[in-house]
Amino acid sequence: MRILITGGAGCLGSNLIEHWIPQGHEIHVIDNFATGKREVVPAMPGLVVTEGTIADAGLVDRIFGGFRPEVVIHSAASYKDPGNWREDASTNVIGSINVARAAEACGTGRVVNFQTALCYGRPESVPIPVDHPTRPFTSYGISKTAGEQLLLLATVPVVSLRLANITGPRLAIGPIPTFYKRLLAQQKCFCSDTIRDFLDMSDFLALMDTVIREGSPTGVFNVSTGEGHSIKEIFDEVADFLQVVPAEPVPVVPAGADDVPAVVLDPSRTERELGWKARVGFRETIRRQLGWYKLHGVSDVYSHLAAPKS
Ligand SMILES: NC(=O)c1ccc[n+]([C@@H]2O[C@H](COP(=O)([O-])OP(=O)(O)OC[C@H]3O[C@@H](n4cnc5c(N)ncnc54)[C@H](O)[C@@H]3O)[C@@H](O)[C@H]2O)c1
Repeated sequence: MRILITGGAGCLGSNLIEHWIPQGHEIHVIDNFATGKREVVPAMPGLVVTEGTIADAGLVDRIFGGFRPEVVIHSAASYKDPGNWREDASTNVIGSINVARAAEACGTGRVVNFQTALCYGRPESVPIPVDHPTRPFTSYGISKTAGEQLLLLATVPVVSLRLANITGPRLAIGPIPTFYKRLLAQQKCFCSDTIRDFLDMSDFLALMDTVIREGSPTGVFNVSTGEGHSIKEIFDEVADFLQVVPAEPVPVVPAGADDVPAVVLDPSRTERELGWKARVGFRETIRRQLGWYKLHGVSDVYSHLAAPKS
């Protein structure tokens, strides 16, 4: 199958490439390396990488016209500077429009979009059902939600996956790499008083094999174990793995103004309609991630949250 991956040099995109190239799929990546890395998409048979931005409609049209993808995985996103609304809008809104229009023009079979759980804003109930209203309140959440809505307006079949925190090779965002890096460097940590859901990469990849299949259901789906865990639990797992005993108890601080106390997605519709269910448990998921960092280290860590004021 010919698969175009926007943002293919990022964490999810590069894991998909490693998973799909051996299956014989042909992959074309467009990435501007804003948070992705060139070295994770090395030259290999079946893979073409174009450096550029999805905000450039002409470039997107040329790539679609030349490659004629059967499936598009729309993974590119801007989030690394919470104050840079223009860049978030340019990539997450204009970029999504360019992908939607190019997919329509070349008759792409389906577009699979990756959406953030921040689209739900501060949820009324947890676990959050997929039909919960969207009320994003950060630049990342607002722009990603606009991008998703515009994609859903397109005449191509769209699957939008609202994702839990996916853990796996090259994860460079969130509490796991942050605690790992800081505890190793003997730096102080704090835990925000929040609850999140985590999903192992192997479970995500199994779902992706399903959603790219012709005839597989389209629409919006939550992708999660449905289980919430506190950031303090993550800290304890990392400290235990590194055999670090903190001199004093780690402070647990209230969630910042741009954060949400509990984000746990309800995957029941996904399980019912796509016949998929997460298999890897919480502790094993975190341990696998830490095992990967032990072998490969942690790169720069990004966050879509504003840095706490000191
Ligand atoms: N990883 C998760 O747990 C998670 C959770 C929820 C949603 N998502 C969504 O999944 C997608 C992938 O996330 P990720 O964790 O792999 O992030 P990532 O930062 O590793 O990957 C995003 C990629 O997009 C590229 N990019 C940014 N702006 C671009 C532009 N204008 N043109 C082309 N490429 C551009 C980056 O360089 C990067 O390679 C994003 O859309 C994100 O919102 C991820």
